Amino acid sequence: MPFRSGDASWPLKLESRISFGCDYNPEQWPENMQAEDMRLMKEAGINIVSLGIFSWSELEPREGQWNFSWLDNIMDRLHRNGIAVDLGTATASPPPWLTAKYPEILPVTADGVQAMPGARQHWRPTSPIYQEYALRVVTQLATRYSAHPALAAWHVNNELGAHNVHDYSHDADVHFRDWLRDKYGSIDVLNSAWYTSFWSQRYSSFEEINSPRKTLAPQVNPTQQLDFSRFCSDALQECLEAEISVLRDVTPHVPITTNFMVMDEEKWMNYKEWARSVDFVSNDHYKVEGELARDEQSFSSALTSSLVGGSPWFLMEHSTSAINWRTVNSPKRSGEQLQDALTHLAHGADGICYFQWRQSRGGSEKFHSAIVPPGGEDSFRFRETMEVGSTLSQLSFIAGSRRRSGKVAVVFDWESWWAVEQDSHPSQLLDYRHTVLSWWRSFSEAGFQVDLVGPGQSFDDHDVVIAPMWHLMTDEQVATLTSYLESGGKMVFSYFSGIVDENDHLPEAPYPGRLSHLLPWRTEEFLPLPPGDAGVLDNGWKYQAWAERLTLLSEKNDSSVEVMAHYSDSPLEGLPAVVRHNVGHSGGELIYVSAQLDGGSQRELATEISRLWNIAPELPVHLRGKVEVVQRVDHYGTLYTFLINKTDLPVGVEPFLPGFSRHGLCRDPELPPYGVELFIKHSKVHATT
Ligand code: GAL
Repeated sequence: MPFRSGDASWPLKLESRISFGCDYNPEQWPENMQAEDMRLMKEAGINIVSLGIFSWSELEPREGQWNFSWLDNIMDRLHRNGIAVDLGTATASPPPWLTAKYPEILPVTADGVQAMPGARQHWRPTSPIYQEYALRVVTQLATRYSAHPALAAWHVNNELGAHNVHDYSHDADVHFRDWLRDKYGSIDVLNSAWYTSFWSQRYSSFEEINSPRKTLAPQVNPTQQLDFSRFCSDALQECLEAEISVLRDVTPHVPITTNFMVMDEEKWMNYKEWARSVDFVSNDHYKVEGELARDEQSFSSALTSSLVGGSPWFLMEHSTSAINWRTVNSPKRSGEQLQDALTHLAHGADGICYFQWRQSRGGSEKFHSAIVPPGGEDSFRFRETMEVGSTLSQLSFIAGSRRRSGKVAVVFDWESWWAVEQDSHPSQLLDYRHTVLSWWRSFSEAGFQVDLVGPGQSFDDHDVVIAPMWHLMTDEQVATLTSYLESGGKMVFSYFSGIVDENDHLPEAPYPGRLSHLLPWRTEEFLPLPPGDAGVLDNGWKYQAWAERLTLLSEKNDSSVEVMAHYSDSPLEGLPAVVRHNVGHSGGELIYVSAQLDGGSQRELATEISRLWNIAPELPVHLRGKVEVVQRVDHYGTLYTFLINKTDLPVGVEPFLPGFSRHGLCRDPELPPYGVELFIKHSKVHATT
């Protein structure tokens, strides 16, 4: 792989600055506006644009007829103006002539309906015809612009998997069968992995298997569903890699990315796997509404950072203000744009980009905010963007530094996400991402910088690892976490963790079977609660949605077990709810939390854990629950500590952080509502260079 984020080649050709940019769609506008665009881009501080993402029908208006002149012109113009190009491969939205000629590239929904063109992403990830035509465009672009001085990076497709991740077409069936053949080798192995003795589902050949289309009884075989999720993620990753392979052949000197969607609700792409395919990771993030918004934003950025082990990454899209695809779309407050940009930067982003440059005049995004609103440059929004550009230009010294690991890590696992939220479970109210986010938030509010880790990653860098609903555990993962605990690690598991193996089967052991070798208790039954019901523990902690009946095993009942809280209401009154246990002889410990605690109780538990295990929070008491802390570190060892005010009130942050000097992102000595401030501690090495 020729480039990796964090290598000397990062970020793109702009090592010494933070990239600041946007999607630029000049094909939607008269050419005579481009001179004005260049002037305004420079005024706003834009130094990179993503170009041509949805331009296939402009580039190839008829089959085999190519029209590059408009792209040549704008590439040249951008270069003359010192603006780099992240060039789209244009494959996200096939042109009408292609779908008219080959309707068989259109995806099919689970109930057998063929999706129609007229929007975008109307292609089957497994269509050989789509792939042939898409790779032709990629080859044309790569060959033509290989030596173009504006070309800084390739932007493969766009948000791969947005809309078309699940396709149930004939192509999908064929490829799914091949994928299963590769995975299982023989139909007998598949029958056992899929537990097909249940409901007479035994297959006699791979040819009998289909993608899990709509059935009359709603419960499709769960392992089939899980494998289909894995297959769909892999199929899209193969599309990504097919484009990458063309680009690497023709332009080995140009780094390649594609914009991930590490954000709320985007569950189907296993980005931990995808991150291995690209030269640098990019993410799109659109904020959620409501009181979780700021934590969700930090959480998504921390998760993106975890995909590259803390190396810099690129925020490819976020909005300057209102989006247009929720029921109600509110604009951003004054200052919010800057705070959002700085939050992503704090978590390791070295590029901060928007969707999009000019607000479209027509099409379905005409009410989506942009840098240049219909009113043009003399506008609140353009001025807010200029402020972001000018602030980022003064932070160029941050570029290339890595997000530093904190003491606390939370496990995030795409496969557990898929498995936990399958049908036919004790409760359909469990929400994997929100549960992981709620634990992340509890520890953040307890004063820690909180990282995310993948289930296969080493936990050794962290003092404590939290595993919320780590539901599906492979043998290898069980072995890794066991040896981490036995060699002195500290872990917290929530309810519904360690329940199934990679085939979504319950092991031959009491719940939680994958952890039973570590626990001197067992879960006898799950007690999911209906919406609105709540319960209380004997220390006052409240819970909702989930509880478990735990039984301590008398033969193992020894002093190494401590019940930290009992249920105090029927039917579990007096039974253990939160239990702590020593593992091995090297100081390893685990805590098991059998109920879904509410936010306040979970935060108290986080504080209690830091006290019990003597893990000092990074933030002093007066800032906990108000301010988030996150650090970057450069190769000299210089530390960049960001404090992010999560509240709508000013917060006094000094005196704090001895040895650090305040950079002065905020004008007032106090952190203003939602404000972000940077504190710097130069390493001795840096000071002498
Ligand atoms: C993204 C997409 C952009 C634009 C944006 C609007 O999902 O990549 O092209 O549609 O949403 O929020």
